[in-house]
Amino acid sequence: DWTMAEFRQVKIAEIREQVGNGRVICGLSGGVDSAVAAVLIHEAIGDQLTCVFVDHGLMRLGEAEQVVSLFREHYGIKLVHVNAEERFLGGLAGLTDPEKKRKFIGGEFIAVFEEEAAKIGGADFLAQGTLYPDVIESVSFTGGPSVTIKSHHNVGGLPERMNMKLVEPLRELFKDEVRVLGKELGLPDIFVGRHPFPGPGLAIRIPGEVTKERCDILRKADFIYLEEIRNAGLYDAIWQAFAVLLPVRTVGVMGDHRTYDSVCAVRAVTSTDGMTADIYPFDAAFLSRVATRIINEVKGINRVVYDYTSKPPGTIEWE
Ligand code: XMP
Repeated sequence: DWTMAEFRQVKIAEIREQVGNGRVICGLSGGVDSAVAAVLIHEAIGDQLTCVFVDHGLMRLGEAEQVVSLFREHYGIKLVHVNAEERFLGGLAGLTDPEKKRKFIGGEFIAVFEEEAAKIGGADFLAQGTLYPDVIESVSFTGGPSVTIKSHHNVGGLPERMNMKLVEPLRELFKDEVRVLGKELGLPDIFVGRHPFPGPGLAIRIPGEVTKERCDILRKADFIYLEEIRNAGLYDAIWQAFAVLLPVRTVGVMGDHRTYDSVCAVRAVTSTDGMTADIYPFDAAFLSRVATRIINEVKGINRVVYDYTSKPPGTIEWE
């Protein structure tokens, strides 16, 4: 039987063999897959690896800082942190169509990554956290066999364009195995067990126009919601939970004031692969605690609703 400790050693030998004295560049997304790939490759080839973290400013609260400190301080991995928030928000200004938002973010991501790769003098290899399901599943993850429901944000076209060979040490693994390997490599539980997060980030959880102000409002609401989920001991029972900031304002009353603020939807689903999903059946007391806290603590939100839609017919993300 194949243990993760053995897998780790075999992969390290393979990476050394493949890369030789070459230079490797790895794009970090903040997610588990690219993080595990990067740590494993670093263990194999040390400073021949440079990680590039394109920070689009659409991450959750505190997440970008966590990624940077984990990689730089904890692992001592060479990391270029590109703060591209203004560039992304600038390009998103005025965009409201979900596909236009997705396409802009995907394209801009590649452009920034290429620029940074050029700045450090390029590399011979591009490392990616591709998993087995990504290898076998050529069709979109949205569950529609031949229609594109959402254009997936990834760096698929990069290696050919940049003339680099691929290093993909996780190609044989499933998500749960990547988590085991991540633990084996000493990644903190909070990182390894993290819910999936989409490449376009909060932009697809803010239907309508994305602004810095709306990102900040959503980050606060999302943080409170996840804090309550963790406190209730429910985080690991849920595949994905997040808040969505709606482009709708409604009337409310706070103390003796009339308010006219945004609606926040909270979503939580169970799933095994993201292809289908069921809503998580929170009890009413939990949901009212979340609603009360968000409305009291987040300026700009005065109403919270729970999304009761399974997938299909809904998708997990709202855009
Ligand atoms: P949907 O919304 O299509 O999402 O039901 C299924 C799963 O995929 C994630 N997702 C993405 N992941 N880039 C990603 O890396 C994307 O562009 C993207 N869009 C959705 C979503 O969070 C869910 O886990």
